[in-house]
Amino acid sequence: MTERTERPVPAAGGPEPAGDRSLRILLISGSTRAASTNLAVLRTVRQIAPDGVAAEVYQNLSGLPAFNPDNDGADAGPAVADLRRQLAGADAVLLCTPEYAGTLPGSLKNLLDWTVGTGDLYGKPVAWINAAHAGRGGGAQATLAMVLDYVGAVPIQAACLALPGAREAVGPDGLIGDVGIRGLLAGSVEQIVRHVRARASRSR
Ligand SMILES: Cc1cc2nc3c(=O)[nH]c(=O)nc-3n(C[C@H](O)[C@H](O)[C@H](O)COP(=O)(O)O)c2cc1C
Repeated sequence: MTERTERPVPAAGGPEPAGDRSLRILLISGSTRAASTNLAVLRTVRQIAPDGVAAEVYQNLSGLPAFNPDNDGADAGPAVADLRRQLAGADAVLLCTPEYAGTLPGSLKNLLDWTVGTGDLYGKPVAWINAAHAGRGGGAQATLAMVLDYVGAVPIQAACLALPGAREAVGPDGLIGDVGIRGLLAGSVEQIVRHVRARASRSR
């Protein structure tokens, strides 16, 4: 059981309900490697996103400063401000991360730490993909689920995927060409869209 000393606060504002405009999905890779499998998965999601869905890859995981509660406000700096802008503008977030030493890579945990006090993920629909080999990556997925629960994100379980063959399927173009995997990714995006649209119609 997670012990919470302070609950995250909801971020102010958020995107207008996704009506006629494109639905925005922010794609966050937990790997900083240029040839990352996790990034390749998310680039592929961006490529296959259907009309009406704008899926963008977050580009600055390496550029975020180390989280410091002393600076966790207006002083957080431009990289954190930009992260918060991108999260605020997203209808949903899709994460794909490797496991490092049995848990999340520190750089992704650092990103998530920047969202705790300001509530940037509070109420935000999120899904995640595990691209590790079969039977691996469970520690990272469990920690991710725990942290996302802590920050008050809303998991879209139906959109979460395990893709054990992803690493071998990355082509020289940095994308996944395997039709079966692309179909699974398309299904995940479809579930995200369904969740966001249903939520928008409930709030009308
Ligand atoms: C420092 C480090 C620690 C790792 N620890 C684990 C681990 O605990 N469990 C695991 O399944 N893989 C582990 N791996 C393997 C990575 O998860 C694997 O290489 C993955 O494909 C990296 O993702 P990427 O291709 O998106 O960069 C580790 C790799 C590195 C570099």
